[in-house]
Amino acid sequence: MSQRDVTETTESQIAVHWQEEDYYYPSPKFIGQANLTDPAVFDRFKLDNFPDCYVEYAEMLSWYKYWDEVLDTSDAPCFKWFKGGKLNASYNCIDRHLAENKNKTAIHFVPEPEEERIDHITYHELYVRVNEFAALLRNKAKLKRGDRVTIHMPMSAELPITMLACARLGVIHSVVFGGFPASACADRIVDSQSRVLITMDAYHRSGKLLDHKPHADEAVKLSEEQGQTVDTVLVWQRYPGKYSSDKPMKDGRDITVNEEIAKYYGERIEPERMLAEEPLFLMYTSGTTGKPKGCQHSTGGYLAYVTGTSKYIQDIQPKDVYWCMADIGWITGHSYIVYGPLSLCASSVIYEGVPTFPDAGRSWRIAQNLDVSIFHTAPTAIRALRKVGPDEPAKYNYHFKHMTTVGEPIEPEVWKWYESAVGKGEAIIVDTWWQTETGGFLCSTVPGISPMKPGSAGPGVPGIHPVIFDDEGNEIKEAGIAGNICIRNPWPGMFQTIWGDRDRFVKTYFERYCKDPKSTDWRDWPYLTGDAAMKAEDEYYRILGRIDDVINVSGHRLGTKEIESAALVADEVAEAAVVPVAHDIKGTEPDLYVSLKPGFEPSEDIAQKVSQAVIDQIGKIAKPRRVWLVPDMPKTRSGKIMRRVLGAISNKGDVGNVMTLANPEVVDTIKTMVEKE
Ligand code: PRX
Repeated sequence: MSQRDVTETTESQIAVHWQEEDYYYPSPKFIGQANLTDPAVFDRFKLDNFPDCYVEYAEMLSWYKYWDEVLDTSDAPCFKWFKGGKLNASYNCIDRHLAENKNKTAIHFVPEPEEERIDHITYHELYVRVNEFAALLRNKAKLKRGDRVTIHMPMSAELPITMLACARLGVIHSVVFGGFPASACADRIVDSQSRVLITMDAYHRSGKLLDHKPHADEAVKLSEEQGQTVDTVLVWQRYPGKYSSDKPMKDGRDITVNEEIAKYYGERIEPERMLAEEPLFLMYTSGTTGKPKGCQHSTGGYLAYVTGTSKYIQDIQPKDVYWCMADIGWITGHSYIVYGPLSLCASSVIYEGVPTFPDAGRSWRIAQNLDVSIFHTAPTAIRALRKVGPDEPAKYNYHFKHMTTVGEPIEPEVWKWYESAVGKGEAIIVDTWWQTETGGFLCSTVPGISPMKPGSAGPGVPGIHPVIFDDEGNEIKEAGIAGNICIRNPWPGMFQTIWGDRDRFVKTYFERYCKDPKSTDWRDWPYLTGDAAMKAEDEYYRILGRIDDVINVSGHRLGTKEIESAALVADEVAEAAVVPVAHDIKGTEPDLYVSLKPGFEPSEDIAQKVSQAVIDQIGKIAKPRRVWLVPDMPKTRSGKIMRRVLGAISNKGDVGNVMTLANPEVVDTIKTMVEKE
């Protein structure tokens, strides 16, 4: 057995306990108002009509110049969509709505403290603020088309304003999740070669005003040590006019945006006419080994794809108040809080804090107060909301027409609570399966057309043609057999490459099933998603989890290698191995096994220190359930750590035959240790 097997076994074990569920059908009321109800869409988007079918999405945008070619495959697998076309993402998300809808709310910003008033920003106001900030970025920070800028900000209205100002200038933004520590921010600054960092002084979380500025200082310092100088730090104030951090502003480097921007009041910036294939942003994601991968997303293909899927799959219409609970620092927030909904002129809700703060009813009060019609969250949040307040939704007068779940497989039991309690039996649900790399949805039901099935993402969305391969590259056509799910064809939302590392892009996502590495025919380049899945008779896909060494905690991907190398930062540690263990809220969480260098005795202090090292390096999200200090790791004779065995022990499963190991006796010792707890 290879090391990879552990994630495969444990994650799929969680999933395959599920039975096939009965269908749920969309209500006539939903169908009556839906954007898409004509099943002919599947004909229009069948492979015979590829790639021209995607013109339907491109035409949802406003272009300065139409494309010369829908799909250029000459540099496969770096595909270029709508080649030669020119557009601007900020224009599409703001300017084009002004004539009809300038007084409509674009963003509802909901502060965590309930006594603070909600900020309702109209499309006109968004236009003003984005232009003024773009002027500051251009004139003060000296940013220009093609430059990269790193953004380390919390959930705030200023975050999409910052992103859209970058997009207006053609500056490539790289948003780092606000909860990540300085080291993660620094890695991304260095990799993207950003000389400007944009941050905020503080933000509210779980009832506390957290000081965020120290992370910027530390990130700049760490970047400098790695050879990347940040000469400008732009600091938004959470409370304009009042600095909320204990750390001083550094003269000559730090600029208070809220003061500086006064110099640009009334400025208007002509949007850059970007080529469709020019990058819009980078979004970093964990990989199996080494440094995080900067997924490079295009301007035209990406925006067309998130607009098309927001319209058809999320059924977003200008009249909707749409609330996606994800953080903008993840791809879900980019595609389905900012770019998709704003391109369709919806009102998008941004909530600063924790969904259950100060009590279990908070989310439903927000829904009621803003009359939210579309709701979007992840199984981990649904499980948490169900745990703290299963009867809370009924106490509030809101009515969703549509709900999304994303990020990890959802257990049918949880799905049913989401449907009946949160959706009040009125809302349809889409279970959308996709990834940072894919820009937008891959599998989901089309809400006005296909029935829902709890626990299954559904068929490929229009234009996406999934295929399951076995390890040898044979197509698995039968229902009910798990394999590696791939996508046969490129699509406009897919990332263009890994920033600065084309080889890694090809190797990670295409090499395994590419028939001819020299081919410029897209048919030779199936995209390897890295997930295991199986198909049911009705062509609905059920996602079973990652096939590579990535642990999915609360819908966030953490590389096992990253966690293990963080543990090794503690001096006492000789070896570390991390495995996913089932958790009823988070889906899975990391369980960390550590063996100590000679001369060190196991102690609670060391375990604490290792745990803290992981938190410091990666963030609280990676906090191990337990740090087990073991006398030795179970190893093969060639010296490979058997994570499969550790995974089985953590999950109280069968360790199988261990007699071929170099040190079988250690398995019992570890087992006894874990079982005792
Ligand atoms: O394993 C799949 C799981 O999350 C991975 C992608 O994580 P990330 O790039 O962080 O993007 C999360 C938001 C799109 C996938 O490879 N995943 C995502 N959505 C689902 C899912 N697993 C099952 N069902 C889903 N709906």
